[in-house]
Amino acid sequence: MSSIDRYAVIGQGLGHSRSPQIHGLFAQSTGQSMQYGLIDVPAAGFAAAVRDFFAGGGRGLNVTVPHKEAALALATRLTPRARRAGAVNTLAPGAATDGSALLGDNTDGAGLVRDLTVNLGYALTGTRVLLLGAGGAARGVIAPLLEGGVGELKLHNRTAARAQRLAQEFADLGAIASVGDAAGGEYELIINATSASLRGELPAVPRGACGPRTLCYDLAYAASETVFLQWARAAGAAGALMGLGMLVEQAAESFLLWRGVRPDTAPVLAALRV
Ligand code: ATR
Repeated sequence: MSSIDRYAVIGQGLGHSRSPQIHGLFAQSTGQSMQYGLIDVPAAGFAAAVRDFFAGGGRGLNVTVPHKEAALALATRLTPRARRAGAVNTLAPGAATDGSALLGDNTDGAGLVRDLTVNLGYALTGTRVLLLGAGGAARGVIAPLLEGGVGELKLHNRTAARAQRLAQEFADLGAIASVGDAAGGEYELIINATSASLRGELPAVPRGACGPRTLCYDLAYAASETVFLQWARAAGAAGALMGLGMLVEQAAESFLLWRGVRPDTAPVLAALRV
């Protein structure tokens, strides 16, 4: 077994993942000795791949599409934010040394809020926000958005019942409700948390939701602008942003959990944008 600490991102269709580069830069800047790889598995192979990784001495996994809800089920202990989200994007070894105990965390929401408020200087307080999607990615960001002070959070999903259930689940945290095809006016922020972008698809957006004061943010990142962001520009949105900043920020939160040191994200974002 190699003595260097091993980490990886686990997902399906990871071809363009930038996580190895991001964690490589974090390791360099903080002087940490570690290795970071890719584990590409379909849903059926997820649990076995995670168990093998930790049983073999692996120190941490970032979990991405479509495994965030499955990761929640595998974790034997959850951080409060992962429990609240009902989804896990970061796994670390638990107390047992045989790899059987797993700590699950969710750093997605903290990453998004930090990108919006710190990197982009966006004031979330009191804003009207529309969140598209009701899967693992959406789950991760709802509580941090409500706790970050958004005035009103509306959920829209292709399968309406999932958005309704999610709105009920988080109703204790603030003004959250599901919406159908009629948006009820323009939003200040529309966040695409569907996985449609990853397949080059455009999620349906409620009529009238996007206007000249709307910032559109896609949690997905890709080599070129996603279909959702192209749509946003054509619809006259005030801004259209890909989730590269969130990716770097959620990675920094995971790195902090694993290594006990928070890397400086600004130079990494600058390097990735070149
Ligand atoms: P993730 O962990 O990325 O959230 P997921 O749990 O599989 O992945 O959820 C995918 C989300 O993207 C769901 O909200 C899904 O809508 P459904 O609940 O109706 O399945 C949404 N989604 C995926 N492809 C979509 C598309 N082409 N148009 C609209 N929504 C889409």
